[in-house]
Amino acid sequence: MRTISFTLNGRPTAVTTDETRLLLWVLRDDLNLTGTKYGCGQATCGSCAVVIDKASARACATRIGDVAGKSVTTIEGLAQNGRLHPVQQAFLDHAGYQCGFCTPGMIMDIYASLEKNPSAAPEQVMREELESHLCRCGAHPRILDAVKSASAAMKGGVR
Ligand code: FES
Ligand code: FES
Repeated sequence: MRTISFTLNGRPTAVTTDETRLLLWVLRDDLNLTGTKYGCGQATCGSCAVVIDKASARACATRIGDVAGKSVTTIEGLAQNGRLHPVQQAFLDHAGYQCGFCTPGMIMDIYASLEKNPSAAPEQVMREELESHLCRCGAHPRILDAVKSASAAMKGGVR
């Protein structure tokens, strides 16, 4: 057992646990942040995507001990003061999902990508970020519309 301190969604957080446990289960079971989903458990479906120190990561392949001192953002950390983040709002506006189970992970990867490079072409963001997501529901044209919308909003200086 070890106490691991890190920043979670902008707040200092500490958990005392086995440091080899996966971030996914600490988020879901210990911290009640169930927006990060369990799909494959093998870093191949993208449903558990979170952002660690501004880079996309798979919570099912990250040990909690490895986030010590780092900053972790989950889907629950995107909305601020009751307002959805532009990526979340764009998914809602364009109905960029069907089952919705895969959506938090897609939103986190698109968020990370646009934060890093708000000038990236939406098609490039789609290709690079969503290739690793196993959503096969056919909502991709609407997801592309959502990325275009979010990209325009974030270029305008929205977080
Ligand atoms: S559950 Fe982590 S990538 Fe599928
Ligand atoms: S949103 Fe779940 S399969 Fe597409």
